[in-house]
Amino acid sequence: MTVIRALPEQLINQIAAGEVVDRPAAALKELVENSIDAGATRVDIDLAGGGVTLMRIADNGAGIARDELPLALARHATSKIASLDDLESIASLGFRGEALASIAAVSRFALTSRAAGAAHAWRIEAEGGRIESTKPAALSEGTTVTVQELYFNTPARRKFLRTEATEWGHCDEAIRRLALAHPQVAFAVRHNGRAQLNVPAQAPSERVAAILGDAFVVTAATVSADGGTLRLQAGARVPRTRRTGPHAPAATRSTCSSTAATSGTA
Ligand SMILES: Nc1ncnc2c1ncn2[C@@H]1O[C@H](COP(=O)(O)OP(=O)(O)OP(=O)(O)O)[C@@H](O)[C@H]1O
Ligand SMILES: [Mg+2]
Repeated sequence: MTVIRALPEQLINQIAAGEVVDRPAAALKELVENSIDAGATRVDIDLAGGGVTLMRIADNGAGIARDELPLALARHATSKIASLDDLESIASLGFRGEALASIAAVSRFALTSRAAGAAHAWRIEAEGGRIESTKPAALSEGTTVTVQELYFNTPARRKFLRTEATEWGHCDEAIRRLALAHPQVAFAVRHNGRAQLNVPAQAPSERVAAILGDAFVVTAATVSADGGTLRLQAGARVPRTRRTGPHAPAATRSTCSSTAATSGTA
């Protein structure tokens, strides 16, 4: 006879983590999206070991009040929707209230935050999903999330990770995509102590040049479209065939490239 049992919350979160954060870049994307949703104008990202050893994301956004800190780590707890109607008019990047619970379930996690007007910051820690009590902390503004030893307690997931260089490559790509779509936010990124990206808040065209290079801006066509509450701004470049030698056989020496940068505002 089968035995049907309800799974403990911690195990539910660890299972969910396999879908929500299947690799460091996915966790990083969730954390930076939270910073952008909190209205941050500056996000500092420090990574080590391809994001597996360490991810620290510091923002100057709205912060989280002390009594809401445990909720931030709880599954299906969000400040972004409250009813079905809200789903029709979502303007934030997240709304499921799953990301932090999932990441905290599979890492050594700490979140320090100072809500506007608070006398000082508060810190909450979790190890493998076990949430500790909040403690006073020092932070001048916003929220800093630290994720160490991602998947330390889920070796099966850890086995799927590629080399440090590959995982860093995915993180880099995730950051660049977010930076392209949010030129109003300054980003500073370091990996293993080395600066990788440093862009101030800037105009969309300047951001495209900083991420994709001046050549892209010069050669790209501007695409702009409006549809109700949605606006699309993009740069698109036609695929180009480049011969590397005067008599190079096209099949082996030609390359094709096409890139597009988009930013939508709801
Ligand atoms: N950097 C941050 N600054 C301010 N508040 C934050 C930050 N990160 C998380 N929060 C708060 O914690 C809540 C939970 O975050 P979490 O990412 O788990 O869920 P979400 O963003 O609401 O939805 P999703 O799971 O789709 O990302 C958020 O709704 C937000 O209120
Ligand atoms: Mg989120």
